[in-house]
Amino acid sequence: MNELLDMLGSKYPIIQGPIGALNSAKQVAAVAEAGGFGMLALGFVGNVDEVKRMVDEVKELTSKPFGANIMLLNPLCPEIVKVLADYGIKTIATSTGSPKKIYPLMHDLGMKGMHSVLSLHHAVRAVESGADALVVSGSEAGGLRSTGIELSTMVLVPLVVENVDVPVVAAGGIADSRGYRAALALGAQGVEIGTRFIASEESPAPREWKEMIVKAGDGSTTLISLGNMMMRVIMHPTFDASKNYNLLEAMEGWTAPNFDLFPPGGGQVSALIKEIKPVKEIIEEMVS
Ligand SMILES: Cc1cc2nc3c(=O)[nH]c(=O)nc-3n(C[C@H](O)[C@H](O)[C@H](O)COP(=O)(O)O)c2cc1C
Repeated sequence: MNELLDMLGSKYPIIQGPIGALNSAKQVAAVAEAGGFGMLALGFVGNVDEVKRMVDEVKELTSKPFGANIMLLNPLCPEIVKVLADYGIKTIATSTGSPKKIYPLMHDLGMKGMHSVLSLHHAVRAVESGADALVVSGSEAGGLRSTGIELSTMVLVPLVVENVDVPVVAAGGIADSRGYRAALALGAQGVEIGTRFIASEESPAPREWKEMIVKAGDGSTTLISLGNMMMRVIMHPTFDASKNYNLLEAMEGWTAPNFDLFPPGGGQVSALIKEIKPVKEIIEEMVS
């Protein structure tokens, strides 16, 4: 058994990528039931009661293991971690911030964590800070990016694999069995899937967003600046590259949907996604 699967407790090393504050117990449970590792996106959660409600909802739908993502910039992280540990959640994903403070607490509570990194430098630092695994995200991925020079998944994953001694999860550009097998060939023990799962039947994303992904071609995504961060988004018909977008308006823009307020997030892999499908079909095709 690979070390990552041991950590996740799922059948396949296919992890549901967290998407802002977009949560559906139905989708997390569907990923878990299909053999993947479903994840709640708790990055923007404002109180622990909300965490309890979401975990309860998933547990009503599946007895399979699932996890959650926390954003380390959120001051509530220690409280959220304690609640997740009380619920018996064994593995969580951490992103956006330093893992230094939270990992000792997670380990004391018997939990393991995979930390998201966008560079070799941060990968090495995260392992030094106690990360048990790394989610290594290449430049083609959807979601928040750095303002620095970035490497693609094809280069960054093997580079990190040869420099750390923890399991690596490849993220960015993976939507089907070709990408899944390529990631394993690069030395990753698993994959994190973002854009492909947004365009799934169970995703709570509005239909318009899913269709934007399905219609996207090879020139359809770009990076927008959000101050000291960037985000990869899909250029919809009224997309305005000169506008200053505000990350705090992302959830409103995405759920309304009002893509002029905030454009739909998505990775370059959108160009390979042709159909909205149930997560079970996506996972079955991926491991076929
Ligand atoms: C719209 C959007 C929002 C995202 N939000 C988060 C987040 O809140 N936390 C996080 O760790 N990753 C986030 N990600 C990254 C995904 O979980 C995943 O790693 C990434 O999408 C993988 O690349 P792919 O889109 O090519 O599959 C986001 C990605 C997208 C597209």
